[in-house]
Order: sequence, then structure tokens, then C-alpha cells
Amino acid sequence: MKGATNPQNFDRIVRDIFAPIYPVIAEQIKERTGITSGKCLDAGCGTGALGRAIAKITDLNITFFDQSNEMLELAKGYTNDENIGTRSTFLQGDIHSIDLPSESIDIVISRGSSPFWDDWRKAYSEILRILKPGGMTYIGGGFGNVSLREEIVKTMNKNNPNWQNSFKARIKPERDALPGILAYLNPTSYEIINDDSGFWAVITK
Ligand SMILES: C[S@@+](CC[C@H](N)C(=O)[O-])C[C@H]1O[C@@H](n2cnc3c(N)ncnc32)[C@H](O)[C@@H]1O
Repeated sequence: MKGATNPQNFDRIVRDIFAPIYPVIAEQIKERTGITSGKCLDAGCGTGALGRAIAKITDLNITFFDQSNEMLELAKGYTNDENIGTRSTFLQGDIHSIDLPSESIDIVISRGSSPFWDDWRKAYSEILRILKPGGMTYIGGGFGNVSLREEIVKTMNKNNPNWQNSFKARIKPERDALPGILAYLNPTSYEIINDDSGFWAVITK
């Protein structure tokens, strides 16, 4: 399964190494989208770290979405421990065909998952289908800021110099494909953020 080969190991890495990035990215999402209530889909949520971080600083109800049931089970455990279980739902599925009604979601967030998607045009078109008019995306990857990025990349490289191999080659093709996909999907507006916070597609339906 792409991007989820070892959920237990991924969980450990998120807890021990990546954990500080999620509250930083969640604040950036809140500031850049202004969406703080309604329904949020965390697409390719893994153990749910980003969705959980945004749940804690907003009134959003989060649907944790992933192809891996094992990841979703881990996410579920955390939402219960962190007292956000009542605002959390869990959906197993593939981003290319999301089992949700059209125009039902206020914001789709996603970090570190899109490089693993097989067909970006199909995936982004599904995401736009489920968004309400005026709904937004914050999809991409990054570490929140320079110091977190440098610290984490250093630790990861030390532990396993090949850690980026599963997605590195997919990043450039996705970034190259995005402008054409967005021109085809023709949303109300979009902005590609490519700065110290990471690379993020902020789309307004
Ligand atoms: C590197 S993890 C990132 C997890 C989480 N967003 C984070 O930042 O901690 C990538 C996740 O994307 C999920 N994924 C990959 N392809 C997917 C697809 N086609 N549909 C749904 N989930 C997918 C994987 O199962 C995995 O949990």
C-alpha cells in the first residue's frame, strides 16, 4: 500500500520526530483559509496528526480519511485519548473515489499524501466534487518552518538516509502537473504556496 507500508513504524516516527510540525501547520491553515467551523476532511490522514491538531484550535468536525484501516485505527485511538472523539469520524477509502456526497465538506486538508496518489487529476477533481461552493483545500507537504525542517531532515537522514525514496521522485511530476489540472478544473481561485512552510495548493471552489 503506497505511503503506508508500516503503520506502526510510521506512528513511532510521527510521535518521536515529526510531532512538532503539526500544530505549526494547523495554525497556518487556520490563518490562510479562515475556516474554523463545519466539516474538514484530512485526506491521507495517516495517524491523524494534522486533523487532530486543527481540531484542537477550531470547532471543525474532522473526517479522518485514509486507504489504510490500520492507520485509521491508530488515529481513532488518539482522538479518543485527546478528547476530540465526538468531533471525529473515520472513513476508509481511496482518494480517487471518495465515498462522500458532493458539496458536503468545508475544507480538505492533506499533508504528505499526494505524492502517493496515482492520478492527480482524478484525485483533485474528487476533492473539488465533495467541497461545498466556497470551500477550500490546503494540500501539500512541508514541515511548517525552516528550523523544524532542518532539524527533522537531519534526524531522519541520520536514522535512514533513504527515507525520502518512496516519494522523492513523485514530487516534481505532481508540481509540474498541478497548473494544468487546476486550469482544467477551473476553481473560483487558487494559490500555490511554495515557501518555508512547504508546498501547498490552496484552492477555493
Ligand atoms: C506519509 S503518510 C502522511 C500521513 C499524515 N498526513 C501525516 O502527515 O502524518 C501518507 C498517507 O497517505 C495515505 N494514502 C496514500 N495514497 C492514498 C490514497 N490513494 N487514498 C487514500 N489515502 C492514501 C497512506 O495510507 C498514508 O497514511
